[in-house]
Amino acid sequence: MSDDISQLTAKHTYGTWRAQRGWKPIHVTRAEGCAFWDASGKRYLDLSSQLICSNLGHQNQAVIDAICAQARDLAYISPAHTCEIRARVAQKLLEVMPKGLDKFFFATSGTEANEAAFKIARAYTGKHKIIARYTSYHGSTAGSVAATGDFRRWFIEPTGKIPGVIFGPEVNCYRCPLGRTSPECNLACADYLAYMIDHEENVAAILVEPIVGTNGVLVPPPEYLPRLAEHAKKRGVLLIADEVMSGWGRTGKWFAVDHWGVTPDILTTAKGITNAAVPLGVVATTRAIADYFEDNMFAHGHTYEAHPLTLAPAIAAIDEYRRLDLLNRSATMGELLGAKLRALKEKHPSIGDVRGLGLFWAVELVRDRETKEPFNTPQDKAARKPLVVEAVAAEMLKRGVSVLSWVSHLIVAPPLIITEEELDEGLAALDAALEIADQKVAGAAA
Ligand SMILES: Cc1ncc(COP(=O)(O)O)c(C=O)c1O
Repeated sequence: MSDDISQLTAKHTYGTWRAQRGWKPIHVTRAEGCAFWDASGKRYLDLSSQLICSNLGHQNQAVIDAICAQARDLAYISPAHTCEIRARVAQKLLEVMPKGLDKFFFATSGTEANEAAFKIARAYTGKHKIIARYTSYHGSTAGSVAATGDFRRWFIEPTGKIPGVIFGPEVNCYRCPLGRTSPECNLACADYLAYMIDHEENVAAILVEPIVGTNGVLVPPPEYLPRLAEHAKKRGVLLIADEVMSGWGRTGKWFAVDHWGVTPDILTTAKGITNAAVPLGVVATTRAIADYFEDNMFAHGHTYEAHPLTLAPAIAAIDEYRRLDLLNRSATMGELLGAKLRALKEKHPSIGDVRGLGLFWAVELVRDRETKEPFNTPQDKAARKPLVVEAVAAEMLKRGVSVLSWVSHLIVAPPLIITEEELDEGLAALDAALEIADQKVAGAAA
C-alpha cells in the first residue's frame, strides 16, 4: 500500500524544486509531537519541523480544534465582507507584532505575502527597485523568486520573473562576501547596501531575512539590522523583514527583529503562525503605509485572502506559544542545542561552523576547515550531483531522524516543544552520520 501511494503521488503530482525522476516520497501516515511515522510504522524524529514550520509540534490539539470550530461556524466568506475571526486575528497580532505595525493583509503563503509586500512598497514609495541579498530565499512566484538570491532563481530566469530586483551582499561572518572579518569590517556589508541605494536611485525597498534561514541560519552581528534600518530610513527606502521562517518563537522571540529592537516598515510572515496546519501568510505594515492607501487603490487581492479557516488557528497558535512558554523554551533549549552542536564540532573535522539562535541552527560541513572549502556548491546542487550533506541526511533518516539538508549544511530546527532526550536522540544520529563526511575531509585516511 505504501509503495502504491508513493508511486501514484510521484506519477501524477509534481514533486517541487527537483527533477521528477527518482522521486520516492515517504508516505506519512501519522504525526504527533516531534515525530512522524511512515506506512510501515517506522518513526522519524523531526529535527527540522518539516520546512521549519511545525513550531508547536505536530497535531497541536488547540490549533486543530480552532480549524474544526471555524469550519462549522463559517468556513468561507468573501474577503470583501468581514467576520469576527478576521477582526480578532488582527487584534491578536497587535499583541505580538513589533510596535508600529498595525495593518495587515492576509495571504495564503510566505511567497504571496512577499509578492504583496513588493507591490505595497512600490505603490507607497512610487519607486521601483527592490534590493535583496544573494544568500536568500523569498518564495517561488515571479516576484518573490526574482528577489530570491539562491540558485532556485537560476531555473526561473528563462521562464520569467519580475524586473527591478537587484542583489547586494549578505551578512555572513563565516564566509564574508566582501572578504572581511568581523568586527574589524565595521559592517561593511550593511554600508555597501547604503552605497547601492545611493548609486541606484529609484529604490523602493530593501528586503532581508533578518536571520537568513534555508541558506544557512546566518545570524548577523547585533549592530547590523539597526544600522541597515538607519541607512534605509535616511534614504526614504522601506525596510521589509521577511520573517516567514524566523518568526513565531523560532529564535526565542516572536520575531527575529525583536532581538535588535528594529521595527521594519513591512514585515511578512507565514509558517508558524498557524503551526503550518493551514496556509496563512501575513503582511504587516506601518500606519503611514496604511494611510497612503486610504485614498489610493490597494490593487491586490484573491479569493482565498483573509480566509476564515486560515485565520482561526492563528489565535489558537499564539495562545499555545504563550501557554507552553515556547519563546523562553526556544531560547533556553536553543542554548543547550548550540552547546551540544559545538561539542560535535570538536569531534568531527567535517564541521566547519555551527551557528544559530533559539532553536534555529545550521551545521555547515567543509572539506577543509582551514580553507573552508565546502564539499559542495550551489552549482553542484543545481546540476543534481550527489551531495555529501544529502548523504549525511539520508543516513540520519535511516536511523529514524529527519533533518533538512541544503547544499553544504544541515538545518537543525526542531519543534519548540522538543525535550532534551529527543534532542539527544537526534544528535546521536547526526554524530553517527557525520562519519560519512569525516571520511571525505581533506587528508582523511581512505
Ligand atoms: C524566508 C522565507 N521567505 C519566504 C518563503 C516562502 O514561503 P512559502 O513556502 O510559504 O511560500 C520561505 C519558505 O521557506 C522562507 O523561508
